[in-house]
Amino acid sequence: MAAAGSGARAGHENWSSRSAFILAAVGSAVGLGNMWRFPAEAGENGGGAFVLFYIFCVLLIGLPVLLSEVLIGRHGQANAPESVRRLARDSKASEGWSVLASMGVFAAFLILSFYCVVGGWVVYYIGVFASDLFQTGLSGGAFQGRDPEEIKALMPGLFADGTLMAGLNLGFLGVTMFFVARGVSSGIEWVAVYLMPLFFVLFLAITIYGAFTGNFAEAVAYLFTFDFSKLTGEVMLAAVGQAFFSLSLGVAGMMTYGAYANRDTNLGETSGIIAGADTAVALLAGLAIFPIVFAAGLSTNAGPGLMFESLPIAFQQMPFGSAIGLAFFVMIFFAALTSSVSLLEAPTAYVFEKFKLARPVATIIVGAGAAVLGVLSALSFNDLAEFYPLGFIPLFAETNFFDTLDGVTAKLFMPIGAILTCIFVGWIADARLIDSENGLDGALHKLWRALVRFVCPIVLAVILFVGLTS
Ligand code: TRP
Repeated sequence: MAAAGSGARAGHENWSSRSAFILAAVGSAVGLGNMWRFPAEAGENGGGAFVLFYIFCVLLIGLPVLLSEVLIGRHGQANAPESVRRLARDSKASEGWSVLASMGVFAAFLILSFYCVVGGWVVYYIGVFASDLFQTGLSGGAFQGRDPEEIKALMPGLFADGTLMAGLNLGFLGVTMFFVARGVSSGIEWVAVYLMPLFFVLFLAITIYGAFTGNFAEAVAYLFTFDFSKLTGEVMLAAVGQAFFSLSLGVAGMMTYGAYANRDTNLGETSGIIAGADTAVALLAGLAIFPIVFAAGLSTNAGPGLMFESLPIAFQQMPFGSAIGLAFFVMIFFAALTSSVSLLEAPTAYVFEKFKLARPVATIIVGAGAAVLGVLSALSFNDLAEFYPLGFIPLFAETNFFDTLDGVTAKLFMPIGAILTCIFVGWIADARLIDSENGLDGALHKLWRALVRFVCPIVLAVILFVGLTS
């Protein structure tokens, strides 16, 4: 509900309860990053080495940065750049630090644009399984009597059809805009409170099913065998980027959600819950997808198409395959929607507070921008496949528009945003203000502070340097 409060904080909303905040934040974190991007990144970066370094990043870097971000937001009670500015002002520091969040808001907008393209793929598969269920009924697997080659061709078929992909992308973006336009408690919170629990139930059921039927042992060996020689600078940068992407960090998303948290929410504890739930879902998604990849003889480094190509093949062999396939993609749709809503909320909150617009107007402005970039991303799988926007930079040579946005945000914006956040919270902001917000005491507090001041910025700077120069 809009607390029609006083002065600068007029119109600023709050979550209706602590559990609503947790569900919304977990909803932001758990999404396509866990189900689609994590397995694809792990597969492209050598499996175990990537996964273990990823876990290391979540614990040592992701968790402290997550707490720093929600803390900035809760202190400021405003959109991300304004929250940073308020904490800086209260600490008698330069308000110029707000640029770290302005960069973040912009990056969130870029991520939103290609995230909705992948959301469109999910919608496509919902359609595929729904029509299959309609045709064959409940009995037997999906796609009965159809050649596996035909099923493998679904994804390339969609990739080749730029118009369809752009249309699905706009549809997904439109649904996201609808909920963001409705506001915090009646829109954003609604999706989180109803859809996240549904997601967890469906997800557990399907993972357990996969564990009993797929090539589980090989998947476990692949994901958890640590081969030190595979841990290159590039793999490390990819793992940090994935940790940030998955936890919605480095680009102002969690600052924005933290700003709607009440004063009595324990932020330390809440951050632990968010990071724990997100990591558990990523690892379980890996354990659900790789058994199928191995059993079907697919290549682990299939890239963005990995999840979408492997799963339909598995569903063909399962009893009730079309119903399970439909449930699975509906579940991913829910998870993706709670994340895209948070991606849109960060720039929207900034635009409507900064320019004093109505929330729906700001939603439409930001959404329209994301629509244009999204169409370019959708076309980079077909008509614009040869367009390499940053081709002159070696790291992005032969990288299409979609992969460039993904790479620039995860490998540059997120680590740089996080380094600045750590320096700001650890060194610039008034320590007493920070201490009163974080909800940690004793040894845990000291540990967190040491991580934010020293470990995170230094490790991040080294990884960024090695990753960019190797
Ligand atoms: N974390 C989400 C996922 O894993 C994606 C996401 C939502 C995000 N909000 C974000 C990524 C903010 C970066 C920043 O799917």
